[in-house]
Amino acid sequence: MSYLFPNYQRKELELIKGAKNTLTDRSGKKYLDFTSGIGVMNLGYNDPELNQVLQNQASLLWHTPNLYENLLQEQTAEQLANNKEYVSYFCNSGAEANEAAIKLARKATGRSKIITFTNSFHGRTYGAMSATGQAGIHAGFEPLVPDFVYLPFNELEPLKAEINQQTAAVMLELIQGEGGVVPAQASWVQSVQALCHEFGALLIIDEIQTGIGRTGTFYAYEQYQIEPDIFTLAKGLGNGIPVGAMLGKTNLAEFFGPGSHGSTFGGNKLAMSVASHVVTRINQPDFLQSVQTKGAQLYSGLTKIAEKHQHIMTVRGKGLMFGIELADQNTLKQVLDQLESEGLLALKAGQTVLRLLPPLTITKEEIDQGLSIIDKVFNNLAS
Ligand SMILES: Cc1ncc(COP(=O)(O)O)c(C=O)c1O
Repeated sequence: MSYLFPNYQRKELELIKGAKNTLTDRSGKKYLDFTSGIGVMNLGYNDPELNQVLQNQASLLWHTPNLYENLLQEQTAEQLANNKEYVSYFCNSGAEANEAAIKLARKATGRSKIITFTNSFHGRTYGAMSATGQAGIHAGFEPLVPDFVYLPFNELEPLKAEINQQTAAVMLELIQGEGGVVPAQASWVQSVQALCHEFGALLIIDEIQTGIGRTGTFYAYEQYQIEPDIFTLAKGLGNGIPVGAMLGKTNLAEFFGPGSHGSTFGGNKLAMSVASHVVTRINQPDFLQSVQTKGAQLYSGLTKIAEKHQHIMTVRGKGLMFGIELADQNTLKQVLDQLESEGLLALKAGQTVLRLLPPLTITKEEIDQGLSIIDKVFNNLAS
């Protein structure tokens, strides 16, 4: 028997070692990684600089409570603001960052209604789960936190009909990740922002999967000509060290005064030393340009493969975040299994989407290698 709750559907595969963009299992078999540990390991595995940063901090001090000053938090928050007027609150995960966002939005507006979208994913805690627009994720856990409303993604009329003076916030992912790698249309997002401004509601952008360089800009919102009131980060921020952040416009700072919200571990010194270093490395024009160039290479290779295979419906995404919509669930399962046996790890999203999230450090040669494995697997399916 296992001493674990069976809440994860685990594969019979244990990865025990990683180096750059490659993982090794218990038998010594190597895999090219197109998962980044679900969008986490943006700088790849066993990075010598990150190891050094962590070891240096570990030998100085792991943790101090948030009762004392923390210059590493100040430094990381300044980096995350990215020359804009944002303040940060640090926590330990994506769900916690979204909890903070929901609480701040309600407190700052004095309103309770929060509008989110069908097929969104915002996390598993009660607030974040209630924000998630997927009935399957709610099942058995009702009653949810009240006053969440789910509307169709990328559609304006239902939002115009729903948003009003009782709306605290509209919350969305710019590319729905878990829901199937579905990008929001720029004109729609801009209209959402305009409606938020008109009704005094806050715009919350969940950048937990799209942030920290994943889509080719440091934040995905930069590609949408918007400025969220609040946005949330986790996953890639710590490259495997658990850390999350909620950023809000400076005019919201007063609503999270002393005693309003908090976390024992949030922003601890180990997490902050790593996060600060991750941001320094990724938020560089050359690095972000390389994500765009490699993303274009991957996209062009995937569209060529898609043209040859009727199992593939569409390829979509930005930067190094791609979804390949397949004909059905069974095809997706076969493809994932065969990719794994050919030495490529990939993910699913929704029921029928093959999701690729390689480390941002992936090389051009590794992208070609991954593409040829994907092509081979689809050729095998066809025959
Ligand atoms: C967009 C988005 N928001 C929130 C979360 C929840 O993050 P965590 O699992 O760290 O709580 C995820 C995780 O997949 C996510 O993709």
